[in-house]
Amino acid sequence: MSEAVRFGVSISPELIEQFDELLTRRGYTNRSEAIRDLIRKELVEQEEIEGKEMVGTLTIIYDHHVRELSEELIRFQHDHHMHVLSSLHIHLDHDNCLEIIVVRGAGPKIKHLADRILATKGVKHGRMVITSTGGDLPK
Ligand code: NI
Repeated sequence: MSEAVRFGVSISPELIEQFDELLTRRGYTNRSEAIRDLIRKELVEQEEIEGKEMVGTLTIIYDHHVRELSEELIRFQHDHHMHVLSSLHIHLDHDNCLEIIVVRGAGPKIKHLADRILATKGVKHGRMVITSTGGDLPK
């Protein structure tokens, strides 16, 4: 790793006070690590906007009794096998399934895939988390 750069930032006392409170609540022990994380968060969002290759996890819950829903979800993943890396299925209870689908591809593409799955009849709720593949992201 190259040598760390130190820089000064002017900031109002009120803002830094709130920032420090937030860091404490989130478990940060120093500002530098929190600021590095904030910068990386913005860089990842920019990667997504620019259509770079991203990875994502889509978590959904659904009732497997809904007619043909399980088959439809499997068919959809096979149709997009180039973007679907893996999936994990958990039988939560007698009726409900939790599925985590790991995807890789351009941000807009994998978002669109997630939207299609979330809009499938019988999928009760879900959420997609997109992040960088890590390659272009400095420590
Ligand atoms: Ni199940």
